[in-house]
Amino acid sequence: LHVAVLMGGWSAEREVSLMSGNDIAVALEKNGHQVTRIDMDRNLAMVLDGVRPDVVFNALHGCPGEDGTVQGMLDLMQIPYTHSGLVTSVIAIDKELTKQQLVPAGIPMPEGKMVKSKDIFEADPLPRPYVLKPVNEGSSVGVAIITDQGNYGNPIGRDVTGPWQEFDELLAEPFIKGRELTTAVVGGKALCVTELKPKAGFYDYEAKYTEGLTEHICPAEIPAEIEKLCLDYALRAHTILGCKGTSRTDYRWDDEFGADGLYVLETNTQPGMTPLSLVPEQAKQMGISYEELVEMIVREALG
Ligand code: DAL
Ligand code: MG
Repeated sequence: LHVAVLMGGWSAEREVSLMSGNDIAVALEKNGHQVTRIDMDRNLAMVLDGVRPDVVFNALHGCPGEDGTVQGMLDLMQIPYTHSGLVTSVIAIDKELTKQQLVPAGIPMPEGKMVKSKDIFEADPLPRPYVLKPVNEGSSVGVAIITDQGNYGNPIGRDVTGPWQEFDELLAEPFIKGRELTTAVVGGKALCVTELKPKAGFYDYEAKYTEGLTEHICPAEIPAEIEKLCLDYALRAHTILGCKGTSRTDYRWDDEFGADGLYVLETNTQPGMTPLSLVPEQAKQMGISYEELVEMIVREALG
């Protein structure tokens, strides 16, 4: 097949996408495909019209790319593409819209509140500790945990992102103490559960992409009941949202409260495929190599 790998772009997760995209391109070449690497810019439609691939492998993260814009354009151009389609992408990129789909189906998610960032300086939107996050970014871009001690892990000053003050609106959610878990869905099956234990602070951008800053425990050492719930919620979220190819659902688990302490934070429709990313790690744990994983995602796009 001739596969065009879309990566880069101009989202806050540009660098992550370039890492994902380059690894995916190498794997596709190993699998015997002809690969064209495309760093997305605003001429994408023209570029694709020239390249005329059999299928696009969407390795974009964030907006635009994970949010339905690129998916809608590819629909118009009638080019098949990997991962979720237009409507799913529009909903899943937005953590509040996602809740509107998943909570009525019985999937527990923290009750959030949209706040104007200028108002946060006037008054706390929720009792502390709470989390502030842009409603539609990934990789913890712009995320801050506000505790009684002030801002913990506030990424102000990081060049990777605008600080949270630069977002006009933010989602405020109660901070769920406890543990960070995640489950991938690939080939229509929930794979396993990984626990992320950052060595310091929280699982922020730096902890996600710097080797050695976070311990990945895969499979997680958690009670069977919690493991089963994670697998179940991930598959249900994938199905309800209408995800394709792969998705990854992230959790916080307050272990003091057993099953009642487990909350879904979000479902990612374009999960990272970097060397430190979680979907490839879980796939490997389940006996699926990186090359096989990429191939499964391509086949589902054409299926
Ligand atoms: N947003 C990043 C790429 C992830 O979910 O893995
Ligand atoms: Mg995310």
